Amino acid sequence: MANTILVGAQWGDEGKGKIIDVLTESADVVVRYAGGNNAGHTVIVNGRKSVLHLIPSGILRKNKLCVIGNGVVCDPLGLVHEMEGLAKHGIKVTPKNFVLSETAHVVLPYHRELDSQREVIKGKNKIGTTKRGIGPAYGDKAARVGLRIADLVDSAKLKEKLSARIKENNIVLKSLGAKPLSFKKVFAEYDKAGRFLKPFVQNTVVLLHHAIRRGEDILFEGAQGTFLDIDHGTYPFVTSSNTTAGGACTGSGVPPHRMDRVVGVMKAYTTRVGEGPLPTENQEISDLLHGMGREFGATTGRARRCGWFDSVATRHATMVNGIDDLAVTNLDGLDTVETIKVCIAYRHGKKRYDYVPNDAAILAQCEPVYAEFEGWRTPTDKCKSWKQLPPKARAYLKAIAELTGAKLYIASVGPGREQTIFV
Ligand code: IMP
Repeated sequence: MANTILVGAQWGDEGKGKIIDVLTESADVVVRYAGGNNAGHTVIVNGRKSVLHLIPSGILRKNKLCVIGNGVVCDPLGLVHEMEGLAKHGIKVTPKNFVLSETAHVVLPYHRELDSQREVIKGKNKIGTTKRGIGPAYGDKAARVGLRIADLVDSAKLKEKLSARIKENNIVLKSLGAKPLSFKKVFAEYDKAGRFLKPFVQNTVVLLHHAIRRGEDILFEGAQGTFLDIDHGTYPFVTSSNTTAGGACTGSGVPPHRMDRVVGVMKAYTTRVGEGPLPTENQEISDLLHGMGREFGATTGRARRCGWFDSVATRHATMVNGIDDLAVTNLDGLDTVETIKVCIAYRHGKKRYDYVPNDAAILAQCEPVYAEFEGWRTPTDKCKSWKQLPPKARAYLKAIAELTGAKLYIASVGPGREQTIFV
């Protein structure tokens, strides 16, 4: 399979979990490189649904090494909970199939509290975060006051660093009207999690380079999506990490010239959770998809905002990530639509954009320019091959791939592994 970076080409929730699971079959190692338990990757195997927030979805297959890289912010309590949940389903997480970077940063309770309080203070300008403490944890990392996994698994270091950080953060929390935290309680919980996680902790940079030397294939599992990237997304309505392909290098320590290809995952339409501009947002398609029981967030359960496919955005994503191959998911979501719209440009006053403007306020005012496609109005969820897809669905897929500017590689017609068509 070669070393492959998989990214979301839209606003997250593109169905990456399923595509990662499918591609993992031919990978040896799967690496999470950014984000934290704000992500929710849903995988359905033999009719059973698993939602993974931190551990790479590769864990659901045998003999794959799953790695949480240095670029991730890790909530240890969330991670332990996830490992216990997998064990209940008969999936054993051991140091043989799961490794955690000693330099990944730790998400602590004051990060979650600050995340929530800042959202309250922002009022109607809130970001709509997952309240998992992601922004404040990355903030501490950049400010060089974060705790890393190596600190978590060393009780003496944890005690010293945590006590200083809780002292400072309690002053901030009190000033924001939130309750201060008890050092004793937090230390006890996190020290326990640290002891549990210690056997899994390694220098993952060295580990990955050894794997490369042995000729093993690595899949880099992106979280969130291109337009939630801290640099390339619709700032400030973004997450706090580099979700784009470059993040795979910095978040794992594997250099760019060891990467062989980039796969971009996008839905056959567009969705977003949280606040921020979404030019093709459309009530009719939102109602249709929610009515089908689809498009509710895997992490927070929030209803996702839905809209038509936006090729200006996905073309931009191809450029920023260097996408070679495209996986289009949720094609079956459009099975009943009579006329399908695709955004081919934005209009802002007299200006026409064929790229995504950097200013979120301008993007929010952009009017989509649409092309229309005749719907196929036939169920596609049982289609097993390209030939079995209705001709109008094939034409639609070809058109959106062409507009996006990358090769169509996979069409997905449902959440199951078997509902995957290699083009
Ligand atoms: P945060 O990452 O929790 O700080 O949230 C920042 C923004 O990113 C919010 O709009 C969230 O809804 C969005 N977001 C974070 N993680 C995901 C994800 O996994 N899928 C979709 N949106 C996400």
